[in-house]
Order: sequence, then structure tokens, then C-alpha cells
Amino acid sequence: MPQMNEDILYCADHHFLHGGHPDRPRAGVIEWCNRPFANIDEMTEFMIEAHNAVAERGTEVYIVGDFAIGKDFKAKQKIFDKMKGRKHLIYGNHEKNDTMRLGWSSEPKFMHTVEDNGRHIALCHYAIRSWPGMYRGHYHFYGHTHGRLPSHGRSMDVGVDSWGYAPVRADDVIARMIEWNSDFETYAPERKEIIDCAENNMPPGFYLPELREDPAYEALVVRR
Ligand SMILES: [Fe+2]
Repeated sequence: MPQMNEDILYCADHHFLHGGHPDRPRAGVIEWCNRPFANIDEMTEFMIEAHNAVAERGTEVYIVGDFAIGKDFKAKQKIFDKMKGRKHLIYGNHEKNDTMRLGWSSEPKFMHTVEDNGRHIALCHYAIRSWPGMYRGHYHFYGHTHGRLPSHGRSMDVGVDSWGYAPVRADDVIARMIEWNSDFETYAPERKEIIDCAENNMPPGFYLPELREDPAYEALVVRR
């Protein structure tokens, strides 16, 4: 766990080595996310440089999933070694076993809360609706959706597609949350009452009271 007043950076979804084809050099993540690179090598070079422009040797860097794609361990290692900082992985759906074996500064995790200069930040590759400490002002940084998922409350995508292909500090992420998330202060997705599907004779997952007004409800409900 980082100590107070350390420089901490966040990023996700580099998708290094994703795609590229002799006939279609932009195939893969470049095309899919409309990244401004001619080919995978150009993307790699740019993102390593962008990383090293903000990260120092001792910087704690949290990569929130989908670091690299494919089975070329040597190529992954080469990219990893060029990137400065003490790198930590919150693994995503594209992480293969060999990616997990790169020289991460801590054991790769599915989810992890970072203490960043007095703030608590719950990291998970996937955007979650209710995270640890949410009602105590804790934040949630995620990846996976490549800037395509509207954010809520104290949560935000830290993927490189949303941040100029570079890692970002919590101050900047939180400033964007305040500016973009109209429910920054009010986001509270949980209801006051406990929704008991069995007691309400409803199939699990079909719990919204207003849906009882839906003509389809009667057809869907499972009578016990
Ligand atoms: Fe991704």
C-alpha cells in the first residue's frame, strides 16, 4: 500500500500488440477505438513515450486491465521493461497467464483499493455500480469500456482512450468527475428497502416494483 504523498498514476486498456495485419495495419484496437496511429508499432512507441513523460522510476502506476493482447511474451516483456514506475496490475478480460508473470510490483488482483494521498480509490477493470466505501466518499476508477460508458457519481474510466493515451493522476480524474458527472455528490443507486424476491413472489432479478405494471410481468413471473 503506497504511503502518503506519493506520486500515483492510473491507466488502463493499452491493448499493446492488439491487431495489425500486412494489408490492414490499423486492424484491431486502432480501428476499433479510432486511435490516431498508422500501425501497432507507432501506437506502441507513442504510448511508451507518453507513459515515461509522466512516470518516474519510483512512481506507483496502477494499470487497470487489458495491458497487452496475444501470446508474444517477449514482446510484452520488452514493452513492460521500457515503461517506468512500480507497475501494478488490476487484471482485465484480455490478460493471459504470461502477462500476469511480467515483473509486476505486486500480485495482480481482480480488485484493489488504493490509498492515494488521503483518498480511497477502488480499482476494478469493470465499472461497478456499488463499490467499497462509496457512501463514505471513496472513488472508483475502471477500464474495459474504452471511454464509451457514461460515468456516474465518483467513478470514471481511466482507460488510455479517454486520456490522450497516457496515465493520469487522481486529481485530474476527480476534476473530470466533478465536471462531467452531474450526480457526483448524489449518486446512490441502492434502494432503502431490501428487495426480497422470494417474499414478493418474483423471479430473482425481476424486482423493480414499477415493472409489475408491465403487461409482460404476469407472463414472466414464476409462481412458487
Ligand atoms: Fe480493453
